[in-house]
Amino acid sequence: GGVATDQRHDSAHKHVRGTAVYIDDMPESSGTLHGCLGLSTATHATITSMDLSAVRAAPGVIDVLMASDVPGENDISPTGRHDEPVLAAGKVQFFGQPIFCVIAETREQARRATRLAKVEYKELPFVTDIGVLDPSKDKLVTPPLTLRRGDAAAAINAAPRRLKGKMRIGGQDHFYLEGQIAMAIPGEDQDVTIYASTQHPSEIQHMVSHALGVPSHAVTVEIRRMGGGFGGKETQGNQFAALAAIAAKKHHRAVKIRPDRDDDMIATGKRHDFLVDYEVGFDDDGNILGVDFMFAARCGFSADLSGPVTDRALFHCDNTYFWPAVHAQSAPLYTNTVSNTAFRGFGGPQGMVGAERVIEEVAFAVGKDPLEIRKKNFYGTSDRNITPYHQTVEDNIIHRIVAELEASCDYATRRRTIEAFNANSRFIKRGLALTPVKFGISFTATHYNQAGALVHVYTDGSVHLNHGGTEMGQGLYVKVAQVVAEEFQIDLDQVKITATTTGKVPNTSATAASSGSDLNGMAAQNAARQIKERLTNFAAEKYQVPRDQVLFLPNRVRIGNQEIAFADLVRQAYMARIQLSAAGFYKTPKIHWDRDKGEGRPFYYFAYGAACSEVSVDTLTGEYVVERTDILHETGRSLNRAIDLGQVEGGFIQGMGWLTTEELWWDEKGRLRTHAPSTYKIPLASDRPKIFNVTLADWPEASEPTVHRSKAVGEPPLPLGISVLHALSDAVASVADHRMCPRLDPPATPERVLMAIERLKEEA
Ligand code: MTE
Ligand code: MOS
Repeated sequence: GGVATDQRHDSAHKHVRGTAVYIDDMPESSGTLHGCLGLSTATHATITSMDLSAVRAAPGVIDVLMASDVPGENDISPTGRHDEPVLAAGKVQFFGQPIFCVIAETREQARRATRLAKVEYKELPFVTDIGVLDPSKDKLVTPPLTLRRGDAAAAINAAPRRLKGKMRIGGQDHFYLEGQIAMAIPGEDQDVTIYASTQHPSEIQHMVSHALGVPSHAVTVEIRRMGGGFGGKETQGNQFAALAAIAAKKHHRAVKIRPDRDDDMIATGKRHDFLVDYEVGFDDDGNILGVDFMFAARCGFSADLSGPVTDRALFHCDNTYFWPAVHAQSAPLYTNTVSNTAFRGFGGPQGMVGAERVIEEVAFAVGKDPLEIRKKNFYGTSDRNITPYHQTVEDNIIHRIVAELEASCDYATRRRTIEAFNANSRFIKRGLALTPVKFGISFTATHYNQAGALVHVYTDGSVHLNHGGTEMGQGLYVKVAQVVAEEFQIDLDQVKITATTTGKVPNTSATAASSGSDLNGMAAQNAARQIKERLTNFAAEKYQVPRDQVLFLPNRVRIGNQEIAFADLVRQAYMARIQLSAAGFYKTPKIHWDRDKGEGRPFYYFAYGAACSEVSVDTLTGEYVVERTDILHETGRSLNRAIDLGQVEGGFIQGMGWLTTEELWWDEKGRLRTHAPSTYKIPLASDRPKIFNVTLADWPEASEPTVHRSKAVGEPPLPLGISVLHALSDAVASVADHRMCPRLDPPATPERVLMAIERLKEEA
């Protein structure tokens, strides 16, 4: 039951049978009230009047909260910028911004009453699309970042060839199966307990304590599991938790808020969409000599996590490529839209999509297979291994990953087969692309790279495990339990995985940046080792043997020449008054980052992978099918291959959905019109590649001593979906004999694919 075994997800059987308890499944205490948000119906406006009398008079309504009801600070901005109110006061900055919150006896009553509000607005000028903005002049929500190494402008000007372009990269809704939800239970005095579907219980604790105006010690936040987070529950749960807590304290009753899917999609942030301007200098062989990027992002009305997200986009504008001279800037632009937030990859995938477009442009310009241009420009050794942020790439294995995948997926042969197929097929065209991934692991805010854990061994030898990480389906809990089982050499079912709570492990970081198992696994290992150390010392003393003769074997301990059950040793230790509980801690070594200089080592290590996708496109309709995808993704010495395989498959599919069918669309009035599954198309089971070969490169020689030499796997597979975008582009390009870069922007919906085909045919 220890590490490197293929344990099932601890709750897999409960997920399938419907017995896993999510917050909405928890028994409600008697008299529980229900909240519903009242959303702004103007995009940018001052509120001139708010008549809520009909709302208050509606059946079952107990209260209607407004900004003035927030007893503490009316603010839930995670950055301390005070730019995001719990409820908007006087002014709204996007269509759908919460302005009041109805509290009623039932959820249905709260929802019906919300509709009865009469709010009048004086409209102000607004901007929703960044296409009309000037990244160097217009309002930003947070300071931009510049990365530079060498003189990019000079390198581009001196290059034998150069080109410029612009691309748009779409955003993405998280579409977690379980939506946002919070339930607050008031305690005595200032106390309140909150059950919130959150990746960041400590932040919910802080936001609630600020909103209530009470110390952090009065607020306890607990979460056993989320039905998916994907970054959408790093900060976006703050609002619901704060409102539930305020109402609960005001009325001395439990309060639950669970927005419906439409409200959830309208009122909570998403993946940032970007406009990328690029310029590249290269030679006739496709060697890239200099690159210049501007990454402009639609951030919405407040900073939220836009600073670190746009930073991470720049940190990944190299992907796996060495840019000999590079200049890259971000522009986190203010817009009158919902404030965009974390989403699996945290801006990194957008940076990589920009890098891959540059590669593709160069490949078309010099008339070569993009894969050849990719390999030519990979990071190398010695002088070709410095990133735009001056971190040395020490663990580069992309050459090996791509070489192995290229061979195993039969790239060269299929390239020729597809050419022959396309030559003979009038309407259906096939496309093929192999794209690499390098993803930086660690929070770029260095101080977040810490974690705590709490381990108790009970006198029967069973173990209670708690840590600061949250479970959102990614399998963190079972992985950390495996680490603890490994230390004590006990069966996995002897380790009880318990809900994350701010009361047991304090001051936690969000479970994010894919570092959950790296950080919490190490912290739990540290706690278990402290207890093991005490047990070893105790046994050595009691049995009069040297310490190295105390050996933990499966469910038993060998002490000198005798063996006793683990539980027996524990009981003896208890009788001798040995402490059987420990708090563990871990902080990631080696990392540092100077944002003003744009230099440092923000990442402890990189995770690598590559995917090859083949598509067929109907050139009359733009519709397409992913015929086959082959993936080779690196996991280090995987803690749990079964879980990691799911992460790689799921990450790829989510990335594919982002770049193909998932389209967010705001109308001219600034309203998000794609706020339900009827208009927002996530991948279905039937959209998965017809042939899907996923292999884990569980090569143990990971360069840094991570927990059991495993590597983070939560986010890195998402950008493997880029292979589908580029395979579509390849198919589109075939209608003009690959003479022009299709400049196919994501999301490559069938409509956009068709438009690209028509454009290419016209230009050809
Ligand atoms: N997998 C599932 N099933 N559900 C999720 O919500 N979130 C992803 C990834 N994989 C997610 C997931 C994101 S955004 C991150 S940062 C990591 O899991 C977080 O978990 P980890 O650090 O334990 O990998
Ligand atoms: Mo993941 S976007 O870091 O929650």
